[in-house]
Amino acid sequence: MTAFVFATCLPRSMPNLKRELARTRPDLRLAYSRPGLITMRTDAVPAELDVPEPRAIFARASGRSLGFADSTDRIVEHALALVTERTAAGASARMRVHVFARDPADPDETPEDLEGTAALRAELMTRLAAHAYPRELAEPGDLVLDVVRPPPGLTDPIFVGWHLHDAWRGAAPGGVRRVPVPEDVPSRAYSKLEEALGWSGLPLHTGDVVVEIGSAPGGAAMSLLRRGANVIGIDPARMDPRVLGWRGAEGSFRHLGIHAERVRTRDLPAQVDWLVLDANVAPHRAMIGLKHLMTLRGGTIRGLLLTLKLNDAGVIEDLPALLDELREIAGVTTLRATQLPSAHQEVVVWADRSAR
Ligand SMILES: C[S@@+](CC[C@H](N)C(=O)[O-])C[C@H]1O[C@@H](n2cnc3c(N)ncnc32)[C@H](O)[C@@H]1O
Repeated sequence: MTAFVFATCLPRSMPNLKRELARTRPDLRLAYSRPGLITMRTDAVPAELDVPEPRAIFARASGRSLGFADSTDRIVEHALALVTERTAAGASARMRVHVFARDPADPDETPEDLEGTAALRAELMTRLAAHAYPRELAEPGDLVLDVVRPPPGLTDPIFVGWHLHDAWRGAAPGGVRRVPVPEDVPSRAYSKLEEALGWSGLPLHTGDVVVEIGSAPGGAAMSLLRRGANVIGIDPARMDPRVLGWRGAEGSFRHLGIHAERVRTRDLPAQVDWLVLDANVAPHRAMIGLKHLMTLRGGTIRGLLLTLKLNDAGVIEDLPALLDELREIAGVTTLRATQLPSAHQEVVVWADRSAR
């Protein structure tokens, strides 16, 4: 039997995604490709509802393909065919409806058509009311209908697919909500961290202590402060005065103006909840500071949210080995990794230590 699967990614990362899947899923054959979306076919799958999907670091959303749609009627037909297929197989057919746009070639330049996306979702929710959950965010095990619009400026047909939600992926449409960079923040790392928090589901609470390696000038710190965290920023470079002078009702900032490898145990509070890393160095170099911090506070750290720079093709080839090393440093058996919409040459990695 033949089945079709799909994956979305950053348009500039298409070659990386194809290379990754060639390595991990040699059964897949490319069927269709547009910037930010590929569909692939696989033969000899065991059962219609049991197709391994193309899970990959460079894919953000992935699943089974239902086909293309040039009208809302056609999307509804696809969704109802899925309901029929699932019902016949005795599986749950109640679905989350995820409508999202593919990433544009330049996310910094192209604003998202949020209104068009919201209008299409509203129409689908009306027409699929008998089969859809009202809320968008997926829970593990949920059936999710993926309705993938072309990015603004492209007129390709809409793609329709589905997947079962699990802990590997983000719960929002497309895996993560894009966060445009606000004007009043010190750096675009603000958006990167906001997206990473949404994608990972890191349960950050007011008063949590976050250590950030590579904190200057302070966009990410600003995101953490606005969420009421107590942030210790480690970076020899200068922090933005808005971060240093934070006067919010909650949250606090302390700067350690040194390299992470030089932090001493007395520089840190006894309890550190989360470790964030965004240092502009090669990943193997970043690991040195990370290992050092884990030696100092590994006993209390509940999770690590890390940005790894893909500064050359060698790093991309080394990613599986780097993730193995990170698993060891974090002391976890599974990690999640993806490329965020705001990412340039980097991937984000989430190590949840609560499940150890
Ligand atoms: C991309 S910037 C970080 C942006 C920052 N997260 C923000 O929110 O604005 C990378 C930073 O990593 C810092 N860095 C590089 N190596 C480091 C190390 N070993 N320890 C601490 N910081 C480091 C650099 O000084 C630089 O400021």
